Amino acid sequence: MRAGHLIGALLASLMLAGSIATTAMAQTTGTESIEDKAAICGACHGADGIPASKEIPIIWGQHAGYIFLNLRDIQTGTRKNEQMEPIVKMLSRGDMLALGEYFARKPWPDLGQPRAPAEVATRAAVVATSGQCTQCHLGGYLGDSTNPRLAGQNVEYLRKTMRDFRNGTRGNNPWMAALLKTFSDGDIDALARYLAGL
Ligand code: HEC
Ligand code: HEC
Repeated sequence: MRAGHLIGALLASLMLAGSIATTAMAQTTGTESIEDKAAICGACHGADGIPASKEIPIIWGQHAGYIFLNLRDIQTGTRKNEQMEPIVKMLSRGDMLALGEYFARKPWPDLGQPRAPAEVATRAAVVATSGQCTQCHLGGYLGDSTNPRLAGQNVEYLRKTMRDFRNGTRGNNPWMAALLKTFSDGDIDALARYLAGL
């Protein structure tokens, strides 16, 4: 029974991925402009930059180099995500570079997430100091180039992606993975809430 359920769910998700991929392919062939390609992304990342769910990251206003590298890493499989995989299959290197430039020019959207309460912010600050986060993510966690902006990112996504680094689902940056291995769920939760509220 349970195995049957699992296979059913797996098939359903593969079919969904397949249908998205077909749509994406229909839309990326030919002489479509980068705006047309970017419209596909809007279905999940938000036509106005506000993602369709809390587990989907903001890409509006994210840095071009970082967007490019992550599209490439999802394409090569060092970063795994079922929803993104059918999308990146359709993209050329030129598309990925152009999409990075395109989304980097957009304004970062304000999700209106609450500031972390004092005790959460204090715990996050202790962990951030030990991990030297701002050495790479920079002051205010605004990032640049291939270091992603973290300030104001979707809270559930931050939590999920830090856990993915830790458990190896996101294997595209061994350094981040090694760092997060030293942190507990509580540390990650505090960091996610603190960063989301900036
Ligand atoms: C079917 C939904 C869906 C579509 C369509 C989609 N994405 Fe995504 N995207 C996601 C999800 C979900 C994630 C988070 C993956 C994870 O948790 O690792 C993501 C992650 C990303 C990331 C990594 C962001 C980060 O902060 O690390 C980039 C860059 C990205 N998508 C760009 C795009 C672009 C460009 C397009 C259009 C060509 C696109 N996506 C289309 C769902 C989608
Ligand atoms: C040595 C530089 C460095 C340090 C220190 C560092 N990071 Fe990172 N971090 C990166 C880079 C580079 C990436 C992007 C990896 C990639 O291309 O996927 C990243 C990615 C991330 C992401 C994923 C962002 C997204 O949009 O998916 C989170 C969250 C994150 N770091 C949190 C932290 C936290 C919290 C700390 C401190 C505890 C920290 N980082 C310390 C370099 C660093």
